[in-house]
Amino acid sequence: MSHSDREKWDTRYRDGAYAARTHPSALLEEWMPKLVTDTAVPRAIDLACGLGRNSLYLARQGWRVIAVDISTVALESLAAQASAEELPIDCVQMDLENGQPWPKLIGAGSLSDLAIMMRYTNLPLIERLRDLLKPGGYLLAEAHRITDADVAGPRGKRFRVAPGQLRAAANGYELIDYREGIVKDPDGRRSDLAQMLVRRPMTPAAG
Ligand SMILES: C[S@@+](CC[C@H](N)C(=O)[O-])C[C@H]1O[C@@H](n2cnc3c(N)ncnc32)[C@H](O)[C@@H]1O
Repeated sequence: MSHSDREKWDTRYRDGAYAARTHPSALLEEWMPKLVTDTAVPRAIDLACGLGRNSLYLARQGWRVIAVDISTVALESLAAQASAEELPIDCVQMDLENGQPWPKLIGAGSLSDLAIMMRYTNLPLIERLRDLLKPGGYLLAEAHRITDADVAGPRGKRFRVAPGQLRAAANGYELIDYREGIVKDPDGRRSDLAQMLVRRPMTPAAG
């Protein structure tokens, strides 16, 4: 992603993009009570968090969250909300597409119980994310599918996945749940999504 792409997202957020989308992901809400962690204050990382609807939801449930996005405008909004509610959310500005190493706050030594990557398509990142998770840690991901249907989401195929593509990208994880199809959001908009919950294996694969 180029500098101008970052400006594009900043401009979108300045213009009010997603301001009304305050509900957390239905997939996250569904799985939250079923996730198993042995940590008193579990840690989550929200990749491409945007305005942070899911980070805020997790933090309000008692999780400590690292929220990552390329847009400083979105992160400033999230940081202000987190501060107003005294929620433990650390905001990190980072381009997730240029292969730069993880900053200290995110990297080894501070492994997460959960990573989420919602409505942001970056398939190579899925493999990199495994090292950020504790053994048994979860990855919840949701991506728009390539479709001819009249649905919400990005127009270009570059930001969408083909059938089965999200699942195939989770090589080396244990698959817990996988679905594809039209989902109706609480705001009434319809999206054609691939949705997945996987887990880092408790023991490394042999060989
Ligand atoms: C459709 S929004 C999804 C936001 C959030 N995950 C949600 O579900 O509400 C996509 C997000 O990806 C972020 N993004 C796009 N390219 C990125 C990159 N290269 N690195 C980090 N974030 C990026 C954008 O700034 C935007 O906030």
